[in-house]
Amino acid sequence: MRVLVFGHSGQVASELRRDARVIAGLGRAACDLTQPGAAEAAIAQHRPDAVINAAAWTAVDEAETHETAAFALNAGAAGDIARACAGRGIPLVHLSTDYVFAGTGTAPWQPEAKPAPLGAYGRSKLAGEEQVRAAAGAHVILRTAWVFSAHGRNFVKTMLRLAETRDKLDVVEDQIGGPTPADAIAEACLSIAGQLLAAPEKTGTYHFSGAPELSWAGFAREIFKQADKPVSITGIPGSAYPTPAQRPLNSRLDCQQTEAVFGLARPDWRAGLGRVLAGLRRQAGPGNHIRPQHEGKKQQ
Ligand SMILES: NC(=O)c1ccc[n+]([C@@H]2O[C@H](COP(=O)([O-])OP(=O)(O)OC[C@H]3O[C@@H](n4cnc5c(N)ncnc54)[C@H](OP(=O)(O)O)[C@@H]3O)[C@@H](O)[C@H]2O)c1
Repeated sequence: MRVLVFGHSGQVASELRRDARVIAGLGRAACDLTQPGAAEAAIAQHRPDAVINAAAWTAVDEAETHETAAFALNAGAAGDIARACAGRGIPLVHLSTDYVFAGTGTAPWQPEAKPAPLGAYGRSKLAGEEQVRAAAGAHVILRTAWVFSAHGRNFVKTMLRLAETRDKLDVVEDQIGGPTPADAIAEACLSIAGQLLAAPEKTGTYHFSGAPELSWAGFAREIFKQADKPVSITGIPGSAYPTPAQRPLNSRLDCQQTEAVFGLARPDWRAGLGRVLAGLRRQAGPGNHIRPQHEGKKQQ
């Protein structure tokens, strides 16, 4: 299987590019998806067996003031990719988000639950889902949540950066979700692409997020435990940390259909966090400040 990825240096795209099945990962420089005809030209050039769209406008707060730009990529480009794939009979795996939901209640969101995004980013991703479905080719829309990796911007890296100068942090305790390692998403996307190629009837909308679910404050505590950083966390309500875009309180995703149809179990994010911290230590080289837990214990 030869897979073309849209996205290059992003969290999921970087992980996808490590796999031998991925023939190219196209970022903005190689293929600016906001340009008319860009997706079509790239797919015509690379002639892949399957396409994974890991390109997106992911700056949630900035989307509030740049909704047109967020829509151009998350909806317009997603539609362009989906139509180009459908026209050629190429299966598409398209990534989406828990932010399409309002985040009410405490039950995990089923894939068929009614979306009601709280902000511009969620609206743009929902419009992208609709365009992918309307293109009517073999596709999987895979909604994920709370993505983290050693690349790009994410909560793990933000917490580690703050720990350089702070030993106490206030972190939101009333938003609940499943942190999801980008490498596990990449593996899931590739497995789904292969299965969709063989069985296009698996087309549909699915969920994939890490387990067990917890709050951002709980996630921060585990990050500092694994990284052996002495930072104390005070849990606060999201209302005490206002942001331009409102975040869902309940980001739990029901992933049972993904396991039943594709045989993909939810990844344990605690193991993924260990891999990310190890990756960051390698990036930092000798003398870095992120020590794994067992090294920290040895020094006591
Ligand atoms: N991050 C999260 O917590 C989260 C949560 C739920 C769902 N998701 C979804 O998961 C997917 C992957 O997210 P991620 O965190 O890996 O994203 P990311 O790290 O922000 O990467 C975004 C990617 O989009 C590409 N891109 C941006 N503008 C582009 C343009 N004009 N033309 C072509 N490519 C462009 C970037 O290209 P370059 O390589 O050139 O920079 C980059 O590779 C997205 O669909 C996102 O909505 C993410």
